[in-house]
Amino acid sequence: MKGLAAYPHVAILSDEIYDHFVFDGEAHQTLLAYPEIRDRLILLNGWSKTYAMTGWRLGYSIWPKGLYEQVRKLSVNAWSCVNAATQYAGIAALQGPQDAVHAMVAEFDRRRHIVVEGLNALPGVSCATPGGAFYAFPNVAGTGWTSAKALASALLEDAGVAVIGGPDFGVHGEGYLRLSYANSAENIRAALGRIAAFLAQRQAA
Ligand SMILES: Cc1ncc(COP(=O)(O)O)c(C=O)c1O
Repeated sequence: MKGLAAYPHVAILSDEIYDHFVFDGEAHQTLLAYPEIRDRLILLNGWSKTYAMTGWRLGYSIWPKGLYEQVRKLSVNAWSCVNAATQYAGIAALQGPQDAVHAMVAEFDRRRHIVVEGLNALPGVSCATPGGAFYAFPNVAGTGWTSAKALASALLEDAGVAVIGGPDFGVHGEGYLRLSYANSAENIRAALGRIAAFLAQRQAA
């Protein structure tokens, strides 16, 4: 936080939508806990991940007082009036038992290890273990593919596995793929098997 405090001209957008998806006994740290940056912090969160409510389009944001009037005008005209059924679903999610959330996070933890171990077993691929969310970001530079986006397209077209090329996440993403493990362990294993077969074939070709 000291780093951010040293740059008072920098506005901060903190997307904390994965706040429950933190592994290895770590706890999520919200930037709201730091009063010294509160006047330039915008926080985003929502129901999509914690309650698997992607598609319901229900979320919230917290703004600094100084920006409130401007964002009120924007939101009233752009994204207000969430339908009543969705609002009731959101209340039920918050007030109901939370054991499903804990079970899901434990399941993601299990899948995380399957993905990371499976990726690290592939020739030319190395993958760090993510500490949160449900994505792996393996380095694939050693596969011989110089364009990660071309590899992602080939995996989709020829192996039927959907991944995203690292450059879609910024200029430093070349050489990486992003895989989501928001899928069953069975499908994840099948996808890893297809990637392995694809890489073996393409290397042999
Ligand atoms: C970092 C991050 N923020 C926000 C979202 C938004 O989710 P939604 O638009 O479903 O609320 C996603 C979804 O993938 C995400 O990965």
